[in-house]
Amino acid sequence: MTARSQQSDQRPEAPSNALNKDGPVTYKTIIEPFRIHSVEPMRMNSEAERRAALEVAGFNLFALRADDVLIDLLTDSGTGAMSRDQWAAIQHGDESYAGSPSWFRFLAAVQDLFPFDHVIPTHQGRAAEKILFSVIGGTGKIIPNNTHFDTTRANVEATGATALDLVIEEGHDPTSLYPFKGNMDLERLEALLFEHHEQVPVVFVTVTNNSGGGQPVSLENLRGIRAVCDRYDKPLFLDGCRFAENAWFIKEREVGNADRQVRDIVREMASLADGMTMSAKKDGLANIGGWLAMGDAELAQRCREVLILTEGFPTYGGLAGRDLEAIAQGLSEVVDHDYLRYRIESTAYLGEALVASGIPVVRPIGGHAVYIDARALLTHIDPLAYPGQSLAVALYEAGGIRSCEIGSVMFGLQPDGTEVPAALELVRLAIPRRTYTQSHIDYVIEVCQDVASRAQRLPGYRITESPRALRHFTARFAPISSTN
Ligand code: F0G
Repeated sequence: MTARSQQSDQRPEAPSNALNKDGPVTYKTIIEPFRIHSVEPMRMNSEAERRAALEVAGFNLFALRADDVLIDLLTDSGTGAMSRDQWAAIQHGDESYAGSPSWFRFLAAVQDLFPFDHVIPTHQGRAAEKILFSVIGGTGKIIPNNTHFDTTRANVEATGATALDLVIEEGHDPTSLYPFKGNMDLERLEALLFEHHEQVPVVFVTVTNNSGGGQPVSLENLRGIRAVCDRYDKPLFLDGCRFAENAWFIKEREVGNADRQVRDIVREMASLADGMTMSAKKDGLANIGGWLAMGDAELAQRCREVLILTEGFPTYGGLAGRDLEAIAQGLSEVVDHDYLRYRIESTAYLGEALVASGIPVVRPIGGHAVYIDARALLTHIDPLAYPGQSLAVALYEAGGIRSCEIGSVMFGLQPDGTEVPAALELVRLAIPRRTYTQSHIDYVIEVCQDVASRAQRLPGYRITESPRALRHFTARFAPISSTN
C-alpha cells in the first residue's frame, strides 16, 4: 500500500453485500426493480453440442454463435434490456440529417450529468477514443490511466503513443479489500509528469476500473488527480463507461456521500474533469452509442473534423436519431437509486456466493462483473498457457456460460511482438443490465462450483492462429494435452 493511498478514503474495508437498511426493501432477497414485459427464448443445448461448437470456434468464445450460449456473460456492453420507456422514446426518433430534435434531447441528457460545453456523439466508446487519440496522441506521447481498457490501450498505441497504467498497488492484489481499488497512484502520476511533462497530452481515469476488476475510484482520488493535473497544466479526462456504478460505490463507501443523490455525485465527478469518452452501451443503458465531450473549444473543433470524416455529421455521430433517444432516456434511468442498489447488490450476490464456495474472486466484488482469479484457481497452468482461457472454455463446455478472459491472452502480446504474462489472469463474468434473473445467476453459481471442483484437471491452451492486435477477439486455440 502506498503512503498516499493509506491516507485516503476513510473506510478500511468495503462492506460486503450488506442489507441496505435505508433502502425501501428491508428483506435480504434481492428483487429486480422491474417486471418482465417481453421475453426472449433461450435455446437449451447439451454438453456434447457445446463441445462441437468449441471445436468449430477454435476454443475462442468470441467465435461462438450466440445461439449456442445459454447464459451470456461475455460482456455487459450493449447487451442489457432496454426499458418500456426507452422503446417508447425510440418511436420519437427523428432521422433528420442535421439538427434533429433527438440530438437536442440527447445533448440535454448528457449535459444534465456532464456539463461539458462540447458533446460529440459517436457510434460507441472506442470511436470517441479513436478520434481523441488521433488528435492528441502520436509517437513519443504517453497517456496515463488507472488501467487502460483493451480498446483504449489499442487506440493509444495505434498512434505510436505509450499507454501507461498507474493504478494503486491494491488494484493489483485480488485479495485486498480496499474500497477504491480503481484509484490512481498519485505519487507515480506526479513523478511521470515531473519527468515527462512535455510528452503527456492528457491524464485519463477509467470509472469504474474495468480491467482491474470493476473497482471504483473515489472522489478524494479524483480531487487528488485534479490537483496534480493543475500543477502541470494537464487536462483530465474520464473514461466514463460505468459512471453511475462508480457514483453508487462513492455513495455507499466514501464518508460524507451516503445522503447524496447519485446524479449530484456524477456531476461532481464531471466537475473535476475537463472532458470524457463514453460508451453508452454500459451506463447509457443502450444497445449502441457513445460520446466524446470536453470544455476546450479548439480541441473540440479538431475532434469534430475527424468525426465528420469517420462517424458522421456532428449532430448524429454514427448514430440514428432513435439511438440518441434511447440513450437520453437511459441516462435518466441509470442514476435511479432503486436500479443501482439492485445492480450492485445482484452482482455482489454472485460474487459472494463464489467466495462462500471457496472460489478465488477479485474482492470487493466489482460493479458490473465478477472476476474469477484463474491464476489462483488453476495453479498448475503457466500464465502463457492461459489459465483464464482454460477456465472460460470449461465454464462454457460444462454449463453453456460464456465469460471473457482478461489476462495474458488479452494483454500478454506487446507492441514489439513479444509475449509477457499479464499482471492478473482473470475470467470476467459480466452481468448484462436488467437481463438475467436470480435463478439464472443461481445456475451460474452451480456451474462455477462444479468446474472449480475439477479445476486442477483442466488443460492449458496454446494459440494456433493470431492477428497482430487485439488478438483475443479472433485468435484460435488448441488445448495442450498432458502428453505434449
Ligand atoms: N472503456 C472501457 C472502460 C470499456 O469497458 C469499454 C468497453 C470501452 C472503453 C469501449 O467502449 O465497446 O463502446 O467501444 N468495454 C466492453 C467490455 C467491450 O466488454 O468491457 P465500446
